[in-house]
Amino acid sequence: MQRLRTQVAIVGAGPSGLMLGHLLHLHGIDSVIVENRSQEYVVERVRAGVLEQGAVDLMRDAGVGARLAREGLRHSGVYIAFSGRRHHIDMEELTGGRAITVYGQNEVVKDLIDARAASGRPLHFGASDVAVHDIDREHPRVTFRLGDDEHELTCDFVAGCDGFHGICRPAIPPTRLQTYQRDYPFAWLGILADAAPSSDELVYSLHERGFALFSMRSPRVTRLYLQCAIDEDLDNWSDDRIWSELKTRLRTSDGWEPNEGPITQKGVTPMRSFVAEPMREGRLFLAGDAAHIVPPTGAKGLNLAMADVWRLGSALASYYKSADVRGLETYSDRGIRRTWRAQRFSWWMTSMLHRSDSENPFDYKRQIAELDYLVSSRAAMTSLAENYVGTAFD
Ligand code: FAD
Ligand code: DHB
Repeated sequence: MQRLRTQVAIVGAGPSGLMLGHLLHLHGIDSVIVENRSQEYVVERVRAGVLEQGAVDLMRDAGVGARLAREGLRHSGVYIAFSGRRHHIDMEELTGGRAITVYGQNEVVKDLIDARAASGRPLHFGASDVAVHDIDREHPRVTFRLGDDEHELTCDFVAGCDGFHGICRPAIPPTRLQTYQRDYPFAWLGILADAAPSSDELVYSLHERGFALFSMRSPRVTRLYLQCAIDEDLDNWSDDRIWSELKTRLRTSDGWEPNEGPITQKGVTPMRSFVAEPMREGRLFLAGDAAHIVPPTGAKGLNLAMADVWRLGSALASYYKSADVRGLETYSDRGIRRTWRAQRFSWWMTSMLHRSDSENPFDYKRQIAELDYLVSSRAAMTSLAENYVGTAFD
């Protein structure tokens, strides 16, 4: 058994765990990051692509934003499409200069792993049997195995950054945790294609046959999503069928449609809203998807995770610098408030833009009326824009 000591044990090397480790490093606080997957798996996992202004600012201020500044695609607006027409929402103008940046989560993770390597602080991939103990004592422990070697890491705090399926949230006694969940009766089929994006901004579309989303990763790679069934079998989706369905749902009467190209990745993502309250038990703090899941339609998940670790990093810095516990004590309440705002927005975007089998023709007409109002009212467009670009981290 190898016995180790650190200030903060971080479980999970997704965006939350890696960014927290980096922020702590900048404050001179020691941490060990323990991840159960391999480095390749963590880097290759295709997920989010939209960074709010606050997340971009955080990457820059933390000194890990150089490649993001060079390669990220800043979008000042977004399109909403329905009934064969695309409508532009100028988010930058409506929010006094805020925008979003398209930069793959894989790239964020790569930049943060590089920063971790440069810091010389420990990051263990491929750990097994990861478990947390004594979260209500002064010195909690995280135990894990690397190959045949058992490790016991004693720390001051544990950061549960291990995603929705991790082990940290279940370490909190159920009587101390309140959870709220909503599952949606549909999923997203997502693809990456080697095709130049045919629009320089994202297109969120409601079609009679369901939702579709046009996004991108670079000037050569298009990212696209289609609403599909929860139990969708990818074997039923040939590349031809995917393109035909995407074009049917996205094509507008001015002739716009996505460019086709070889499909390099396909996957199905379930959609759920989930909140666990509080985000803290004793010396265990939950951050990111470990504490909350939003359906992807509002592009909020990664951004909420970044806001959590920014708060947690600042709170731990005040604690170690001046024994000030106020940040730690308000961490959960402040996070829950931001989470519910993002939940409301993501639920609203999802219900406005997807078709459900349980709906009747009235619902579709109502959705079209809502979209019609959205794109013709400056107040409604401002509300979407403010939420989409995100409020300042607080
Ligand atoms: P995760 O990324 O889930 O990382 C958790 C890490 O913990 C993982 O590496 C996991 O392997 C590890 N782990 C799990 N169990 C253990 C264990 N027992 N021991 C050790 N390690 C463990 N969000 C946006 O903001 N914008 C978007 O555009 C967007 N689009 C999305 C599109 C799709 C298709 C999907 C699926 C998600 C999207 N999201 C988006 C959500 C976003 O990807 C997540 O919110 C984000 O990954 C959360 O980061 P995290 O670090 O908290 O969790
Ligand atoms: C992407 C994902 C989203 O969930 C979204 O709302 C917009 C874009 C993307 O992966 O590019």
